[in-house]
Amino acid sequence: TTMAGDYFVKDIALAEFGRKELDIAETEMPGLMALRAEYGDSKPLKGSRITGSLHMTIQTAVLIETLVALGADVRWASCNIFSTQDHAAAVIAKAGIPVFAVKGQTLEEHWDYLDKSFMFPEGANLILDDGGDATLYILLGARAEAGEDLGVPTSEEEEAIHAQIKKRMAASPGWFTKTREDIQGVSEETTTGVHRLYELVKQGQLPFPAINVNDSVTKSKFDNKYGCKESLVDGIRRATDTMMAGKVAVVCGYGDVGKGSAASLRGAGARVKVTEVDPICALQAAMDGFEVVVLEDVVNSADIFITTTGNKDVIRIEHMREMKDMAIVGNIGHFDNEIQVANLKNHKWTNIKEQVDMIEMPSGSRLILLSEGRLLNLGNATGHPSFVMSASFTNQVLAQIELWTKGDEYNNDVYILPKHLDEKVARLHLDRIGVKLSTLSNEQASYIGVSAEGPFKPEHYRY
Ligand code: NAI
Repeated sequence: TTMAGDYFVKDIALAEFGRKELDIAETEMPGLMALRAEYGDSKPLKGSRITGSLHMTIQTAVLIETLVALGADVRWASCNIFSTQDHAAAVIAKAGIPVFAVKGQTLEEHWDYLDKSFMFPEGANLILDDGGDATLYILLGARAEAGEDLGVPTSEEEEAIHAQIKKRMAASPGWFTKTREDIQGVSEETTTGVHRLYELVKQGQLPFPAINVNDSVTKSKFDNKYGCKESLVDGIRRATDTMMAGKVAVVCGYGDVGKGSAASLRGAGARVKVTEVDPICALQAAMDGFEVVVLEDVVNSADIFITTTGNKDVIRIEHMREMKDMAIVGNIGHFDNEIQVANLKNHKWTNIKEQVDMIEMPSGSRLILLSEGRLLNLGNATGHPSFVMSASFTNQVLAQIELWTKGDEYNNDVYILPKHLDEKVARLHLDRIGVKLSTLSNEQASYIGVSAEGPFKPEHYRY
């Protein structure tokens, strides 16, 4: 790992390879490239200092360069210890954009790098978050500065963030509180981070406006679904090379990620079963043709187990003890607590390769754990393909522009981008795949009560 100047990456020499892949990614990210064309001259993000905490992949590199093309100052960290693509980090560092991300960084480094991504000389004024860690860092730190006891950490994760907060408090007293005041808003990428934001609003503790990017239709109904449809099986294959066809796979959760994940496994020929707690999603799974089961009934017969719930303790130690020899266990939800990995720590682990471990259970049976229970599509593969990330990140850029140019029109609440922008994001992705859109006549438009230019659906429409 090399550090020189204002970045921390695995190997800056990887930048050349990174640039080649970036050039290809740009051809698959028409939404971001269109925003560069539309706003490259007017630079609506001029004066903004954006701290980004989001998987440092090739697609994210295209996002970062788009933000910079629109006038932003950017500093970046990854939101997950295994998700960085080191050549993507290298190309960003080489372009002179401070980035702190290494695939396989420790939890301590995770929070240290996040801290570094806030260190603009004049301080950050916007956050672009994925999972809410950057927001959490500032808010928790400010509460600690106000004298609140952070309590005894209940996980390694918490231990690491508490330690980093104490370090920053000692080095720069008052820094968290000032940063909290300077931040004009956050745009949040994923379901889990959005959940945290709505909790903050409920507790009256959100100190700035937030834009929920996840619930743009062109984000969650595409990235979470079609993205996972491609990247879940990609991760399992790169990790294990296991034959997928004929295997019995269990997908826990049938929300957007679960729908994509089940489709991914089915597309690879696996026989897929689903678990759910929500009767609506359970019914959807059944009517999509999946057997809906409870985990306990299939735990000793299935070959592959994938969690997609955003919940904790979904696959527990008692389940893993029952699994058959060489069962594959992985998670594609945001955090690693969906699988009780902590309870496996006192078992015998054999590392097979990066992000793949074989764990021996007391009975002598073994299981293959992917990415130590962290999101496996980014840990074991390279995350979603560029095209679908273009839709997500076009929403991100529009959200950042909105917060920077109109932030004072928003309250300290969570907002979703207006439907005409959602439709704009979709529109920007049609040409690349040869979609020809029909148009409404004025008579037709007035018959269904919309404008011929859109929006085409009422707010309550669910797609
Ligand atoms: P969602 O809310 O649409 O789906 C989660 C589903 O899990 C819900 O239907 C819920 O009823 C179900 N569930 C909750 N507890 C359960 C339990 N104990 N057993 C069975 N089912 C249970 O959320 P979404 O958008 O699908 O996201 C899921 C997770 O994936 C989140 O943590 C999100 O942040 C993350 N995510 C990961 C991505 C990736 O590339 N790895 C991409 C997008 C989201």
